[in-house]
Amino acid sequence: MTYYIRKFYRVLRFLYYKVAQVYSWLISSIKFYLNGVQYHRDFIGFGIPILDVNMQGSFTIGKRFRFNSGKYHAMGGRQQQCYFVVAAGAKLSIGENVGVTSVAFICHNKISIGNNVKIGINTVIYDTDFHSLDARYRNNYPELLDGVKSRPVVIKDGAFIGGHSTILKGVTIGKNSIVGAGSVVFQDIPDEQVWIGNPAQFVKENQYATVLT
Ligand SMILES: CC(C)(COP(=O)(O)OP(=O)(O)OC[C@H]1O[C@@H](n2cnc3c(N)ncnc32)[C@H](O)[C@@H]1OP(=O)(O)O)[C@@H](O)C(=O)NCCC(=O)NCCS
Repeated sequence: MTYYIRKFYRVLRFLYYKVAQVYSWLISSIKFYLNGVQYHRDFIGFGIPILDVNMQGSFTIGKRFRFNSGKYHAMGGRQQQCYFVVAAGAKLSIGENVGVTSVAFICHNKISIGNNVKIGINTVIYDTDFHSLDARYRNNYPELLDGVKSRPVVIKDGAFIGGHSTILKGVTIGKNSIVGAGSVVFQDIPDEQVWIGNPAQFVKENQYATVLT
């Protein structure tokens, strides 16, 4: 008897995820539309992302985008929804066949993510410092944003960014390169390398790079 109850529970759970996938697709499509996102209808989403795309900003998503967002859908064990924020004049672009889980991409300048990129749970990409480094501006009330530093971020094709990483302004991550979980990246990573830590440092060449696209 216990076996069948447990089995039934798993069937219900399976059905829940199937329904959730359809619901997520529908609501996310509406949110993409309302935010002026250029996207392909073949995306697969679990959960609903949070979107704030300025009318003067641009957000494009390539084919076969996959995201996990929020409670019950982020299987790395963290519950945040994905955050995609694009400010006026900024440009966020995601290439083809990209997968992300519970990420935050905060784009005040330019964030460009290539094809076949995987970005692990809880990772944030900031192309801005958000606040001035000058305490007089930062602590003014209301806060003055003059001179806040902001530089483009580029994640090249095939990169894999481990969960809980922070990618800061001006960084380029090379083709097929890997960032270890929990890293803080503030400088460029060349192609086909593994970098890990805070601050992220070179650990080794990516021995699998040659077989990747
Ligand atoms: C970066 C990574 C892929 C390296 O894996 P690997 O090639 O098997 O490398 P190793 O385990 O041999 O580790 C290489 C070295 O880096 C260190 N290291 C590995 N990952 C580390 C991390 N996240 N932080 C700090 N050091 C790390 C190891 O201790 C080892 O150091 P040593 O050579 O001095 O012994 C893996 O450690 C990792 O971070 N995977 C990401 C998992 C993840 O977040 N997935 C997404 C979830 S949604």
